[in-house]
This record gives sequence, C-alpha cells and structure tokens, in this order.
Amino acid sequence: MNSRFPFPLPFGWFQVAYSDELAPGALLPLRYFGRELVALRTQSGGAAVLDAHCPHLGAHLGRGGRVEGETLRCPFHGWAFDRAGACVDVPYARRVPPAARLRAWPALERNGLLMVWYHPQQLEPQWDVPLLPESGAPGWTPYRRERLRVATCNQEIIENVADRAHFHFVHHTVDVPQTIFEMDGPRLRAKQVTRLRTPRGDVDGGIESIYHGLGFGTVRFTGICEALMLIALTPVETEQLDVRFSFTLDAASGASPERGVGKAIIADILQQFVEDIPIWEHKRYRPEPPLCDGDGPIPRYRGWAAQFYAT
Ligand code: FES
Ligand SMILES: [Fe+2]
Repeated sequence: MNSRFPFPLPFGWFQVAYSDELAPGALLPLRYFGRELVALRTQSGGAAVLDAHCPHLGAHLGRGGRVEGETLRCPFHGWAFDRAGACVDVPYARRVPPAARLRAWPALERNGLLMVWYHPQQLEPQWDVPLLPESGAPGWTPYRRERLRVATCNQEIIENVADRAHFHFVHHTVDVPQTIFEMDGPRLRAKQVTRLRTPRGDVDGGIESIYHGLGFGTVRFTGICEALMLIALTPVETEQLDVRFSFTLDAASGASPERGVGKAIIADILQQFVEDIPIWEHKRYRPEPPLCDGDGPIPRYRGWAAQFYAT
C-alpha cells in the first residue's frame, strides 16, 4: 500500500523482458513485484522465470549462476534446478532434499515478449495473452522499443484513457471525443478519434486501445499510417513501474519508424506519455472525486480496474 494511492499490486500478465534478450544458455536477473527473480533460457530453448534466491543457503542465482543444459546451477554449492524449479542435482549429496524447490512463475513468450503471471496469492492465470497478428508478420517492421520508469501504479496510468478532459490541458489536443469505451471481463476497449501532430500538419486518425488487465495493452492507429503499439506496465515496487513501448508499423503502407509519419506518430505518442509523467508522479488518488459531466467514464473505468486486486 502507498500513501498516494490505496492499491496493492494488481494481478495479471506483465512483460519482464523481450524474448531476444535471452539467448539459449543466458540468465537475466530481474527485479519486479518487489522481488528478486531470474529469467533463463535453457539450451533447448525453453524460457523460465524463477525466484532468484536459492532455497539452500540463499545465493542469488542470477548473480554468478549458470545455465547447464536444461538446468540452472547455483554459484554457491552447485545445486541444479530445472525450469519447474525442482532441484534435480546436488553434486555432493546422496539424496536431494525434497523441500529444495524454487518457485517457478507462470511464464509465456508471445509477440516477442516474455510475460509473467503475477498473483499475490499465487493463483493460476485467469486469462490469456492475445496473439497479435501484426507482430513478426511479413511487412511489419521490427519493434522500435522505448523504456521508461514512472513512479506510480498501473491503475493510475490507464485511468488517463478514460480521463477525457486532461487531453486538452496536458496534451494540448483540441478535443478527444471517445466513440467507444467498453469492458468485457479483463478486457477494456477504448476507441478515439484524435488529432496527431505530423510533418504534414495535424491529421485526424483513429486510435483503438485494448487493455488485457492492468499490465498489458495494445494500441492500433489507423487513418494516418497503420501502426501497432504494445504497452507493458510492469510493477517494480508498489510505486514504481517499468514501462515498455514496442512499436511496429506496416511497411507495405510505406510507413517506417525512422522517418515521415511513422516517426512522427511514435514521437507524438511518447511525448504525450512523457507529458503525463509529472502529474502521475505527484498526484494523489481521490477515491470519491466530485466529477462533472465532461469528465469522461472515470467511474466505469474504476469499477473495471477493481477486479484486479485480490482480497
Ligand atoms: S545456496 Fe545455492 S547451492 Fe547452496
Ligand atoms: Fe495523457
């Protein structure tokens, strides 16, 4: 819990790395959800995310440990663990203690992202991560990646999608009419028509945002150029987010992240996000705000977001 907002960490799927950051045999020490973790890829190509501290005498497996074949070997006394977290070898013992287990986090690789399911009570995943047809498809550019740290929580970031009035005051957009704002279980879909700043002047385009829980969303741009942005909001601590943006553009439509309209859209989206940061990092959550009729569907959004906290 935090003094600026009353939310614990939400459960859901969260990006902890890109798949290509983890070659076969590689390890990656991670800090997320207020914990130390280690991501690894075995020689056969399977990825896993495990608690970082060895159950034996507590060494950090991501600091000096190594992948050997299908196992992860601890740097301290050489115990080896498989991807499910079971100890499969103690080099100097006749018998492996059955309690020698590491927690293996539910993890999957999809759309080039390594995702982890976090739940404070360790319940199983309750929804799936969508397979995005654009990601890695012929004609779509490799991800242009951006990464930022923001001192806030997941719910506060996504609330801005519903906060119609802030677009004018923070982002200086003329108006952001929302055509659709709908919720379906863990999914939230918002469609907007917006005005983007491009080298060709201001142009109107469609933006469709779909969030899958509070940790991962996609934003599709149409009208100006065909583009998909993945947004991943991963808590490091209760009040610290690791934010990753991954942009892919339809090169067949002539778009490129390096020039022209494609580059301008990416710059504009990032600038809009950066413009929100000083607000997010200093604001205090008002549980019962005196909203006015022009404020947008903030109460509906909050009702949807409430489902991601374990009670
Ligand atoms: S602490 Fe890991 S093997 Fe002893
Ligand atoms: Fe904003």
